[in-house]
Amino acid sequence: MVWPWLVDEAIPAWVKKNYSPRESWKDKPFSKDDALFFFKGIEELSEIFTEERGRAITHYFNHPKFRSGYLLYFLPLQAAKFASVFQLHPGAMKAALDHGRKTGTLRVLDLGAGPGTASIAFLAWALDPRLSGSEELPPIEFHWCDTQAKIMEDGKQLVEMLASHFPRLRGKVRVVTTTAPWTRFASNFSQATSLVLLGHVINEASFAAQTGRDSDEQGLDPATLAISHLETRAEGGGILMIDPAARSSSQKLSRLRDQLLEAGKIENAPTAIWGPCLHAGRCPLAMGRDWCHFSIPAEIPGHYFKVFSKNLGSEKNWLKFSYLWLAAKSSPAPTPSQELRRVVSDVIDSSTVLLCEPEKVERLGVNALSGIHRGDVINLNERKSGLARSAPSGIVIRPRR
Ligand SMILES: C[S@@+](CC[C@H](N)C(=O)[O-])C[C@H]1O[C@@H](n2cnc3c(N)ncnc32)[C@H](O)[C@@H]1O
Repeated sequence: MVWPWLVDEAIPAWVKKNYSPRESWKDKPFSKDDALFFFKGIEELSEIFTEERGRAITHYFNHPKFRSGYLLYFLPLQAAKFASVFQLHPGAMKAALDHGRKTGTLRVLDLGAGPGTASIAFLAWALDPRLSGSEELPPIEFHWCDTQAKIMEDGKQLVEMLASHFPRLRGKVRVVTTTAPWTRFASNFSQATSLVLLGHVINEASFAAQTGRDSDEQGLDPATLAISHLETRAEGGGILMIDPAARSSSQKLSRLRDQLLEAGKIENAPTAIWGPCLHAGRCPLAMGRDWCHFSIPAEIPGHYFKVFSKNLGSEKNWLKFSYLWLAAKSSPAPTPSQELRRVVSDVIDSSTVLLCEPEKVERLGVNALSGIHRGDVINLNERKSGLARSAPSGIVIRPRR
């Protein structure tokens, strides 16, 4: 049971040992008073994350109170999003694992890694035989890149603890860190990858500030160029990007997708994308009032996680995010059946949902009791909601009311 161990034992004990201001506190168990003490950093960080990201906020991990706050609260929250998306696309995860087995090393890139949140979610997935199977795992090699070295060091130590705690991972996990802008790192990375993960970083980077330019001669910005370079290296499970559910970050992801397709950097076919798209036409939500994002009902395990989210004003009952999962050329996603459509809205006025089509959204009349929700895949012939919603490892996905 990796999640309860991680969020209620390993992280709080580690944070207390490394971030307590007083020596005498360090080896005592994490308590209510510690939760109060560390909550200040969580609260401030939460405010930073909910503000518009136009301002330069990329150096928050310089400060110990933000590193400790991130580890205690945001790491489990963001890892749960990865856990959910891994569960929504078992075919992509299988392709990553098969690639690792075939080549002898499962090489995972985690860009803008922070404390390796996405990698930790990957390890939780790998530890669950219901998800990754009971066969032995191949050696796993993580390559992390971030502009902030200290938070990567924290995460690396946590991953080492995790790998030595669970026999299935013992002796199998290696983490290599590089302190650099992820676009530069990605553009120079020359090895084949089993899986590339980017968590909550596309929305954060100010590319012009790093590179002195907004785009190349083709009009492609550095993120698009870096992802297109990675596409040439990506094998196995391809490239997964998860970003906040907010309109600006979601539309940034949609535009990146469109640029890659229009510049011919990824194949113009639905098989080039694991999800959420079921077509390779232009994204209808890359601009304008609506945007492509998902809400999954969830209960994130952890006593202190619950305390922190209540103190922030609400219990976290939903995981909200936007994402784009590109398939590797050598392991394409299956061709979706022509009748399938992704629902990209909630039910509007108890009677309509929006369906994703190339360049436009289509309205579909639904019965208020149809049970159709944002993110579901429906079959136009059967009008049945068909999105798999089994529970990610340790994350309880509550059935829709
Ligand atoms: C919100 S945190 C996400 C951390 C982790 N990926 C997660 O999902 O929890 C964003 C991370 O991106 C890093 N970052 C921001 N701009 C970056 C850039 N241009 N290159 C590399 N890392 C960057 C930040 O330092 C931070 O660690």
